[in-house]
Amino acid sequence: MSGEHYFTAEPAAATTRHEVVFTVHDQEFRLVATGGVFSASRLDPGTAVLLQRAPLPDAATTGHLLDLGCGYGPIAKVLAANAPRATVYAVDVNQRALELAQQNTGPNVITALPDEVPETVGFAQIWSNPPIRIGKPELHALLLRWLPRLTPDGTAWLVVAKNLGADSLQRWLVEQGYSAERHANHKGFRIFQVRKAGDGTAATAQNS
Ligand SMILES: C[S@@+](CC[C@H](N)C(=O)[O-])C[C@H]1O[C@@H](n2cnc3c(N)ncnc32)[C@H](O)[C@@H]1O
Repeated sequence: MSGEHYFTAEPAAATTRHEVVFTVHDQEFRLVATGGVFSASRLDPGTAVLLQRAPLPDAATTGHLLDLGCGYGPIAKVLAANAPRATVYAVDVNQRALELAQQNTGPNVITALPDEVPETVGFAQIWSNPPIRIGKPELHALLLRWLPRLTPDGTAWLVVAKNLGADSLQRWLVEQGYSAERHANHKGFRIFQVRKAGDGTAATAQNS
């Protein structure tokens, strides 16, 4: 990407379109990607582990779900396909990623820049392969912006590579007043199930 980061707001990298094909629980997905977005050539291995190992929402799921750092939209696409009655917000800072995510998903997905998500929306589920490479302070700020917007019984599912600081992130989440359990550990990736700890130390979104 010629010195650009995948979280560049307006990437200059090539826009040649190609298809990313992957399967989750026997369901095949075909998404369009271009240069200038995260893991454009294939489904990221961490995202694959997240989608295979964390319990996906289903036809009974309602309310708002968040794909935090959606890229070209693979997580939002799978969530929306499995939970057609829910509304999925797909949020990113990369404009090209948002355009691709919009093209790749259906009517129950709303693509948005972070500031475009209405303050009143709370999330029953947050799903994220978070942008570790933005740096620790920025990552912490990102999580402290969105995790408080979990509804009181809401859950966040995060995938983090062990060699990119998964265990220290887990400890930090607990220090912030969340329960952060290791739900799965596969191919060097940790899947964390994150919830409000229930003792009131983590902030709570009031609306859903
Ligand atoms: C590790 S990538 C995951 C992309 C996609 N979910 C996937 O699985 O292929 C993290 C994404 O977070 C986005 N990102 C970086 N900073 C962000 C921020 N402050 N708010 C929202 N998204 C951000 C990046 O642009 C990138 O698309």
